[in-house]
Amino acid sequence: MPTVSPRPIILDVDTGVDDAWALVYALRSPALKVLGITTGYGNADVDTTTRNTLLLAELLGSEVPIYRGSAEPLFRAWSGPVPQIHGVNGLGDAPLPLVTRQTADSDAVQYIRDTIRANPGQVTLVTVARLTNVARALLYDPGLAAHIDRIICMGGAAFCPGNVTPTAEANIWGDPEAADLVFRSGIPLTMVGLDVTHQGRLYQRDLAQLDPALPYTELLRRATDFYIEAYIKEDPRNDGWCPLHDPLAVAVAEDPTLVRTERYPVRVEHTGVWTDGMTVVDARWGQTPTGVDVALDLDVDRFLALFRTRVGLL
Ligand code: BDR
Ligand code: CA
Repeated sequence: MPTVSPRPIILDVDTGVDDAWALVYALRSPALKVLGITTGYGNADVDTTTRNTLLLAELLGSEVPIYRGSAEPLFRAWSGPVPQIHGVNGLGDAPLPLVTRQTADSDAVQYIRDTIRANPGQVTLVTVARLTNVARALLYDPGLAAHIDRIICMGGAAFCPGNVTPTAEANIWGDPEAADLVFRSGIPLTMVGLDVTHQGRLYQRDLAQLDPALPYTELLRRATDFYIEAYIKEDPRNDGWCPLHDPLAVAVAEDPTLVRTERYPVRVEHTGVWTDGMTVVDARWGQTPTGVDVALDLDVDRFLALFRTRVGLL
């Protein structure tokens, strides 16, 4: 049997409860080789998201280097954290142990640029946060785009409502100029947006099945309880689940066949009055030979089975 080498990725996060699950998934998957992790503001400020990322890596016993990244969007003021969703500490206000791991010396943007240049055409960027770090790398080195294998981006809403405004999803809305730059860069891009992430659900009852022997079990149970409660408050029809936004993007990096995609021109709105941060997916003339691979359907059973194995749900 020929063996398939693990896919080399850089994971860009704003850790965050669902980012924490994405980190656990990525660092435990034998099908992925996490070269480095970059952080940014978003669910909380960059110091907090970086601390949370270091903590998860430490609990997992991972030596993967972690690079602190952007503290604010490219051109706008940051709109601030979302403690009502991710807690003040970004991890559902679960008690956190002290972290001893340190960030790597280089900055996230420099790291992304240098790693892509050192491995041309080899590296996939999995972004589960604002696209500020990637946009800054492209501004810094405009030739870089040609050497990125693919971006798998948790972000956007194609044919469904947004989660910050009726038209915008948080990772795109949080820095639409950066997203516009990345979406127009010509880099092959898979958009893993709300159309599919809302199909992959983690229920409160699932948390009891997390292997008690794992070092992150207590933390993730508490953090996710808080996160699910936030979803229930937002929508009284929610019967006790949260979407697995960020882990799904990581899972698609491992197995792209988990989602069905269609290729369309996609533009990010950043001057609209009512549509700021909207991913405008132009499907009127049908699919196009170039454009963004927009994920529209998820093989829910296969994704959840893989997710459970990777994170240790018994
Ligand atoms: C995305 O926004 C962030 O709050 C989550 O971590 C996820 O990356 C969902 O819209
Ligand atoms: Ca995130």
